[in-house]
Amino acid sequence: MASGANQQTQSLTKPAFTEAQASALVESVFGLKVSKIQPLPSYDDQNFHVYISRTNNTADGPAEYVLKICNTETSKNPDLIEVQNCIIMFLKAAGFPTACVCRTKEGNTTSLVSIDNGSGTKSHLLRLLTFLPGSPVAQTPTSPPLLYEIGRLAATLDKTLETFHHPKLRSLHRDDFIWNLKNVPLLEKYTDAMGQNQNREIVEQVIQLFKKEVVTKLSHFRECINHGDLNDHNILVQPSKSAPGDAGYQVSGVLDFGDMSYGYYVFEVAITIMYMMIESRSPIQVGGYILAGFESVVPLTAVERSALFLLVCSRFCQSLVMAAHSCQLYPENKEYLMITAKTGWKHLQQMFDMGQKAVEEVWFETASSYEAGSSI
Ligand SMILES: Nc1ncnc2c1ncn2[C@@H]1O[C@H](COP(=O)(O)OP(=O)(O)O)[C@@H](O)[C@H]1O
Ligand SMILES: [Mg+2]
Repeated sequence: MASGANQQTQSLTKPAFTEAQASALVESVFGLKVSKIQPLPSYDDQNFHVYISRTNNTADGPAEYVLKICNTETSKNPDLIEVQNCIIMFLKAAGFPTACVCRTKEGNTTSLVSIDNGSGTKSHLLRLLTFLPGSPVAQTPTSPPLLYEIGRLAATLDKTLETFHHPKLRSLHRDDFIWNLKNVPLLEKYTDAMGQNQNREIVEQVIQLFKKEVVTKLSHFRECINHGDLNDHNILVQPSKSAPGDAGYQVSGVLDFGDMSYGYYVFEVAITIMYMMIESRSPIQVGGYILAGFESVVPLTAVERSALFLLVCSRFCQSLVMAAHSCQLYPENKEYLMITAKTGWKHLQQMFDMGQKAVEEVWFETASSYEAGSSI
């Protein structure tokens, strides 16, 4: 889940399994003997890093896994989780660094378990993925070649999914999913969480501009399935021996398919640009390198390019408004949420101060000079 809440936040229950309970589930559901288990960060779900002891049956298999336990709301939608699992496997087979999805003892990719931790019985879907190597991009100094690679990956992923078929694919039409960029107008329900200040004024302006200038163009954008959350914690990288263009680092993992839904190519590049700006010292240039990589696979049309600025601003707004909303719901997360939000506001403000034309000039010129440089 993109760092924040989803629409059902108030009714969902985040799982609260203990390490001992999680460990017992890995053994009973997946038949693997756990040697160590540690909690991993998670927002609405619960994730554990699981180490297994090798037995004769698992001697050749991986030793590290991630146990993902869905919240109660998501657990009611097993079709969506099944499609996500199939996409993870499909992308792996197509050569992407996604995890392997482990089978239960019965041969399924998910299992529904019920638990009563004192507040009534709750059902949660479980799955077990292999643990991928590397560190989050958020902890890595990014370079133009790495950003280009990430842009290229985003486009290749969406393009590859054009050939993905599944009888339950319609579950990815998530019409009122708050994180789909189509649904920026739904943010109006949450802006109260921000109080009355200059940030709120910017958000309100972006929402109005979105309604006027993006909603009217949606039918001209090319549709596709979006990963929808290529953020700096969902992309893992590791030092490369021979990355294209000597990026120094190469992508070693693509995680977190929980926000996948039908969207548009231009949404994916906008979302990726926004998240890669967060930790950058030259955030406006970042867009140019990501765009160059993305367009090396999927060149944008003129109408898609003209919406990019507003789409990046809109993603900042989604993230910032939902973070403010989450702070209200879960004040204990406030400190963490506010660190990211502070940088986000700064970048959004900078984009607004520069204006669309000046930002586009940097993006498009950076992208074309990068392309020209890399083809020499
Ligand atoms: N397969 C995996 N391999 C390595 N690390 C993982 C894996 N899955 C999750 N993680 C770690 O756990 C974190 C949260 O998992 P993620 O799937 O992104 O859930 P969330 O929806 O809570 O963001 C990731 O940012 C990453 O650090
Ligand atoms: Mg994540």
